[in-house]
Amino acid sequence: MCGIVGYVGRRSCAGLLVDALKTLEYRGYDSAGVAFFHDGIIETVKAAGRIQNLESKMESRIDVETHCGIGHTRWATHGGPTDENAHPHSSEHISLLHNGIIENYQELKAFLIEKGYTFLSQTDTETAAHLMDYYYKETGDFLEAVIRALHEIRGTYAFGIICKDEPGKIICVRQENPLLLGLGEGENFMASDIPAFIKYTKKYLVMEPGEIAILEADRVSLVDFDKNPIEKEPLVVTWDYEAAEKGGYPHFMLKEIHETPSCLRATMSPRVQDGLVRFDEKELPDHLLRDARSITILACGSAMHAGMVTKYGIEKLCRVKVDVEVASEFRGRPPLLTKDDLVIVISQSGETLDTLAALKMARACGAKILSIVNVVGSSIARESDYVVYTWTGPEIAVATTKAYSAQIAISYMIAARMAFVKGLMSEEALRDFTAELMMLPELVASLVERESEFRALAEQYCKYEDLFFLGRCLDYAASLEGSLKLKEISYIHSEAYAAGELKHGTISLITDDVPVIGLVTQTPLMEKMVSNLREVTARNARVMAICAPQAKDLLEFVDDLVVLPAARDELMPSLSVIPLQLISYHIAALRGCDIDKPRNLAKSVTVE
Ligand code: G6P
Repeated sequence: MCGIVGYVGRRSCAGLLVDALKTLEYRGYDSAGVAFFHDGIIETVKAAGRIQNLESKMESRIDVETHCGIGHTRWATHGGPTDENAHPHSSEHISLLHNGIIENYQELKAFLIEKGYTFLSQTDTETAAHLMDYYYKETGDFLEAVIRALHEIRGTYAFGIICKDEPGKIICVRQENPLLLGLGEGENFMASDIPAFIKYTKKYLVMEPGEIAILEADRVSLVDFDKNPIEKEPLVVTWDYEAAEKGGYPHFMLKEIHETPSCLRATMSPRVQDGLVRFDEKELPDHLLRDARSITILACGSAMHAGMVTKYGIEKLCRVKVDVEVASEFRGRPPLLTKDDLVIVISQSGETLDTLAALKMARACGAKILSIVNVVGSSIARESDYVVYTWTGPEIAVATTKAYSAQIAISYMIAARMAFVKGLMSEEALRDFTAELMMLPELVASLVERESEFRALAEQYCKYEDLFFLGRCLDYAASLEGSLKLKEISYIHSEAYAAGELKHGTISLITDDVPVIGLVTQTPLMEKMVSNLREVTARNARVMAICAPQAKDLLEFVDDLVVLPAARDELMPSLSVIPLQLISYHIAALRGCDIDKPRNLAKSVTVE
């Protein structure tokens, strides 16, 4: 949510800032703006809506000579998505942009109004600009003014700040919200995420909470809120610029679905040794799995659905009780965890605010934290005792696909390794399991190749406004993800239901206008699922079944049938998700939706 970019260096950067903002569109936003030094003043251009609106407003400014500027995409919280509320916000000497929420802004605003400041927006952010300006006038020192203001601001934030009297300098501040510094030759960058600067440099620093960076063309210095200097080693991005480009696909989402087989290989291969699932002792030691008596999984959105898959896998193979909690709900009650609990936190971005806050609560109870994260060095990774990374490269489309698939692949590996170290799975059985696991990339690739079949199904289902997904146990977990994918990107209302529960009320909603997608991949539950699908057929619903090969003959009565390749029951969510993703994708495409940036949604949710 919200994207921050900044540049200082030899290039003329007005266009660069706009292009950098485009690489962060995936984060979700509803207005955009830039501010840059030109001819001794700070020029600001802001526009509600898509970046294209900002670009149109910038037409005459795109080639102006400027070597330092900041840019922002805003996801509205305080005040609607208007030109005035877009960032950067300015005071007499200061212009700044902000990701996060200033909780005590009303109190600060009252103080500043009393001091004669006039507010032009409804945002919480404008108070920070005026407060820094107030202290700048008092001290005449840019950094000191920022620090004094920070000591008064309560809330979550990352800031990028420029001062009229100091062209060629950006002060970057990070508290809760992510901020990176891209380190170039004679130029430096500030950004919420790597795609904004990967075209220019692969060297970067991750700012940590409580750090301030002073960014100039040929130097970057870091201090804490008491001005103590901080030294840190740069990191190097391990993927290429092309990974953050569409590469000929019409949408990132489609590209990312197609990348799933290689992401699965990259994620799983380093965790297989001599044909057996084995984690590096540093990322996940065996004793942690052996000693686990009960597990709580904390996550949001699709990552929570990956948590559901993890629950069924671990409970089945390891006989260990697993609770899956939506992170925001977990936060709302006193936690019942102790130091004996293992908490698994799942997050693609590693920055989801609710997940991070839930992690901290669990940690405060003494629980051990294992996280499954995609973004290296992210907040969740840093706060965890152990981190297992999913190696999928950047995921740009708001609706997650390849990262979800990598998360559930890791979950099978954790379940299998846990069963082995607890003595519930023999070495031979683990070897067989591992061999089947390593077949997944190929099986997934065979499904991705069947895209035209799924597109044809999308044509049949795109006209409906309501849809039900049904499944039992692991298929129910997979249904939740299928349903979320569809509603996120196509705006079709859908519900995922535990199939046995349907007749307790909701079957009354089934009509010939409400089709049903049933998942039938779990061997012991197939007959029951078939009965449930017969029940909805009897209510005239159009029915699509996505099934394991052994269920095919039982399902001749359904309208549409997708037969998956054969795999053991535990691994089927990795297969069923591919048609679910591709059908949703093509339904959304047929309905003309903005697939990579669905309305109101954000990739990285950094507000509560
Ligand atoms: C947002 C995204 C979802 C994602 C969820 C959790 O809602 O749109 O795709 O599943 O956040 O994000 P995380 O980065 O923690 O996995």
